[in-house]
Amino acid sequence: MNIKDSVALVTGGNRGIGEAFVRAFLEAGARRVYVGTRQVGNAQHLVDAAPDRVVAVALDVANPEQVEAAARRCNDVSILVNNAGQFSMRRLIDSPDMSGARAEMEINYFGPLAMCRAFAPVLARHGESAIANVLSAAGIVAVPGMGGYSPSKFAARAMCTCVRAELAAQNTSVTALIVGSVDTRMASHVEGFKESPATIAAAALKGIERGAHEIDTDFMAVEVRANLARDPKAQEMQMRRSLTGERVTTGRR
Ligand SMILES: NC(=O)c1ccc[n+]([C@@H]2O[C@H](COP(=O)([O-])OP(=O)(O)OC[C@H]3O[C@@H](n4cnc5c(N)ncnc54)[C@H](OP(=O)(O)O)[C@@H]3O)[C@@H](O)[C@H]2O)c1
Repeated sequence: MNIKDSVALVTGGNRGIGEAFVRAFLEAGARRVYVGTRQVGNAQHLVDAAPDRVVAVALDVANPEQVEAAARRCNDVSILVNNAGQFSMRRLIDSPDMSGARAEMEINYFGPLAMCRAFAPVLARHGESAIANVLSAAGIVAVPGMGGYSPSKFAARAMCTCVRAELAAQNTSVTALIVGSVDTRMASHVEGFKESPATIAAAALKGIERGAHEIDTDFMAVEVRANLARDPKAQEMQMRRSLTGERVTTGRR
């Protein structure tokens, strides 16, 4: 999959990892980058950076009408990046209600699924096309301190496998991006080493280019997968420490 001359759409592209994706696509020579954003004004700095190539699109992935409208408007997309995500920082049992868990499922699972469904016919117009879904190390090992978030990323990871199979005939690759700890607003409460959003986007673009099924984008993702393979029970016990707010991997400092 060539990034150069591609047309990309990045959900939640106005800040954090999404913004890094937008900048990486521009750097790599994408012909156009649609920035999906809940508030169009929040992407103005990216439009200003490349007015001839960046288009801000109102897009709440949990809003079916906006998802459909985006697919009609952005009908030349060849690479879809499902990046938008929510982390409610709630537990499954010890929360007053299930609103956090429901919102995380809505935004982290049903949102990307709705995007894949709406954009599948758009992607099919190209000889080759790609979907990349921004997942999490919390989607390969459950983190109790991320009670609703972790299951939503597991679900999204399984969705990647199913959608990959369904879209193989139209030559749309589906890449699952396993992301560790990154220096964005979502992880502002996290102490210790955090990767830069630009590093994640750079690794992701390489994965998209070679049509990888799943890649670990950073050191923590690699470490979590290695620990899981080495000793699953020890890894689960280590993740329990997240309930008391302790750091859950050794990681880099
Ligand atoms: N940071 C980490 O350590 C980390 C680790 C693993 C995975 N991830 C994943 O990386 C992705 C990006 O997160 P981030 O770290 O860049 O967090 P972030 O800085 O908090 O950015 C989240 C982005 O998602 C958007 N968003 C939230 N709900 C949305 C919705 N319903 N519709 C459309 N956009 C929505 C936000 O829009 P607004 O600006 O309008 O709020 C924002 O642009 C997420 O999928 C997250 O789960 C992050």
